[in-house]
Amino acid sequence: MKLKSALIAAAVATLAQASLAEEKVLNLYSARHYQTDEALYADFTKQTGIRINRIEGKEDELLERIRNEGANSPADVFLTVDAARLAKAHELGLFAPVASKTLESRIPAHLRTEDWFSFSTRARVIVYNKSSVKAEDVRNYEDLADPKLKGKFCSRSGSHPYNLSLMASVIAHGNDAKAETWARGMVANFARAPKGGDTDQIKSVAAGECGVTISNTYYVARLLRSTKPEDQKTMEKVGIVWPNQQTTGTHINVSGGGMLKTAPHKEAAVKFLEYLASDAAQRYFADGNNEWPAVASVKVSNPALESLGRFKADTLPVKNLAMYQAKAQMIFDRAGFK
Ligand SMILES: [Fe+2]
Repeated sequence: MKLKSALIAAAVATLAQASLAEEKVLNLYSARHYQTDEALYADFTKQTGIRINRIEGKEDELLERIRNEGANSPADVFLTVDAARLAKAHELGLFAPVASKTLESRIPAHLRTEDWFSFSTRARVIVYNKSSVKAEDVRNYEDLADPKLKGKFCSRSGSHPYNLSLMASVIAHGNDAKAETWARGMVANFARAPKGGDTDQIKSVAAGECGVTISNTYYVARLLRSTKPEDQKTMEKVGIVWPNQQTTGTHINVSGGGMLKTAPHKEAAVKFLEYLASDAAQRYFADGNNEWPAVASVKVSNPALESLGRFKADTLPVKNLAMYQAKAQMIFDRAGFK
């Protein structure tokens, strides 16, 4: 008798757990790997009772995985970086539209679409060697194509989303011919063929191998915050420019996410996206990678970012960056920006 009731109790507990798992879980596919995100997820669970199952991976691999899993994908929310990748998920029809008054009122219109939302922003800045290049010669992205900088420009690949999105912004603002002339000018100025990531470019600029490069701000901030003597030396040698302050503003890109069409836990997914737009979450989300919150009223205190000063950001809708990805790649290909 005792055994029987114990068995029943165990069965009931299992059932309860199963239904709990069904209702109170969120499957998050995330390309973010920051320690501060742990606190973010724990806080969400505390507030909502929804447990987060996290699958981490590289941006493009996660996207592939969701595609391959198809209708059976357990993924509820996909978080990644760069408008290009978010746009790709949209084009593949992976995201579901989310109508949320909270997201609409919190996230500025130029930083959201109907099915994906930006939660933080990063800027693409010019980094130059203070002893070989003058700041006034690199005030604008256009200057990178000036013959004055022959043999001095270094960059990561033209196929990388960060450069594609920057090129997409140039296309969106100007015309295709101008964009191609710009790409050809940069290729003519290469100190070497594109290789490595943004941090590698900054180090090459500091070492004098290159005179100037472009980098996302969080890499600059990471080096500025580093306690390693070699990183501190690197940053002493370089200057940072906010490009295009007299014209379109500095190009910004985003980190963000959306709910998947096949999400098994749609209610939890919307709750999570709304949570990411809250004050506390915005601070964690942005500061975890030295970025700026997408919600304008949220202030973070990040000394490295603050030391870079204030700037005018390009307010081009992120949707438009997405729109010109293919054209951007074509232009880089034609110009030989590999
Ligand atoms: Fe990055």
